[in-house]
Amino acid sequence: MTDLYAVIGNPIHQSKSPLIHGMFAQATGQDMQYTALEGPLDGFAGAVDAFRAAGGLGLNITTPFKLDAFAYATERSERAELAGAANAMKFDGDRVLAENFDGVGLVRDVVHNLNCPLKGKRVLLLGAGGAARGALLPFLAQEPAELVIANRSLDKAQVLVRIAEASGAGPVRGCTYADLAGQAFDVVFNATSASLHTELPPVPASVFAPGALAYELAYGKGLTPFLRFAQNAGVQQLADGVGMLAEQAAEAFEWWRGVRPDTRAVIEKLTVPLV
Ligand code: ATR
Repeated sequence: MTDLYAVIGNPIHQSKSPLIHGMFAQATGQDMQYTALEGPLDGFAGAVDAFRAAGGLGLNITTPFKLDAFAYATERSERAELAGAANAMKFDGDRVLAENFDGVGLVRDVVHNLNCPLKGKRVLLLGAGGAARGALLPFLAQEPAELVIANRSLDKAQVLVRIAEASGAGPVRGCTYADLAGQAFDVVFNATSASLHTELPPVPASVFAPGALAYELAYGKGLTPFLRFAQNAGVQQLADGVGMLAEQAAEAFEWWRGVRPDTRAVIEKLTVPLV
């Protein structure tokens, strides 16, 4: 019988996961089917129960169900625990394993695909919501010279600083956007949701050090206000989250199937020009 996987979210029509996993399955010769499920907003657990009863072996989880998936699981990886959210699940009888590959996917894209090691770099993370939280510990595992988390509400940035400190990782500090004046960074990640509303986080142009990389975690929106701002500030290395999307999918695929797919063809197919 063909093994069954899916992505669950609401809405779900925009998801590229069926395309990505379909390409991975074909390239690696895996006998599997990967579909998209629109979960009812008040019925995540029931939808997952039904998927498992039909023989489903694993799910990717997207908005707004990452916290529901975390709660549904019977076992959670350290990464999922630290992110407080799950973006992948694996079913093994009564066991439900939860993982979170967003942060490791992002790091793998930056370090391997973009050839930008984070070790020893000054890294600025804009935003302190779910996306930033998922990236926090994978970033620190790369041993940057420093990690600064800027957020409109300082309290939320400080929550992430405390999580990092509790895990023994560092050095990391939180600040507001105004505090960034006069500071420069080698890599600047936009992990705010501002781009979804075509807004720009109030970041000073001076945050980009010479030769900096500006990375937008959102995918497929072309030159977002943040990337345009970086370009106008003279930044030449611009990236959006297409590689992160492909790499987190590859992590899940390997976790489920024991085979690591190559992400290059997926990234090439899904790249939206930054114009
Ligand atoms: P996600 O899961 O996408 O991270 P979230 O958890 O709702 O979404 O977090 C959204 C993040 O984007 C927050 O850090 C938010 O900042 P505040 O905590 O200060 O609200 C940030 N954000 C959203 N719109 C923004 C904007 N226009 N400028 C700056 N930051 C913004």
